[in-house]
Amino acid sequence: MKVAVYPGSFDPITYGHLDIIHRGLKVFDKIIVAVLVNSSKKPLFSIEERKKMIREATKKIERVEVDSFQGLLIDYVHKRKANVILRGLRAISDFEYELKIASTNRILSEEVETLFLMTNHKHSFISSENVKEIAKYGADVRGLVPEHVAEALEAKFSESSIWTLDRE
Ligand code: PNS
Repeated sequence: MKVAVYPGSFDPITYGHLDIIHRGLKVFDKIIVAVLVNSSKKPLFSIEERKKMIREATKKIERVEVDSFQGLLIDYVHKRKANVILRGLRAISDFEYELKIASTNRILSEEVETLFLMTNHKHSFISSENVKEIAKYGADVRGLVPEHVAEALEAKFSESSIWTLDRE
């Protein structure tokens, strides 16, 4: 069985990530979506919230497992007996960042390959970062993320505005 690990922060999952999962399933028998715990980035959503949103977004897609991992990605890939890391490339600007990750992983293990798939151009300007940025200012993000994720973003930012008002 050909298994790929699709790692990331997924804070939150977007249509761009879902596009990569759909494309990846044409190549692999199973995709393990692996959410990184303890990223140096300060996440908006907890690990459990992120996993729940990914599960909801992929519930109609067979052959997808949602998990999380701590520490080195390569150790997790070995533990799951996979030998491919799947990553999406949106634009040339992603390349340097991805090259660094893929090259580091190659130094750590020659047995694991990183496979890049190109995101559909419709999604090439979606990132979790810009989704959060515009959702924070009340913009509708329904074209960029699934409905339940848009609702979770609205709830998160309304929570934080109540918190801000309380503190003022
Ligand atoms: O969605 P992201 O934040 O761009 O994903 C980055 C991720 C999770 C793939 C990368 O940070 C990672 O694999 N971190 C785990 C630590 C690790 O293995 N580091 C060595 C490779 S840089």
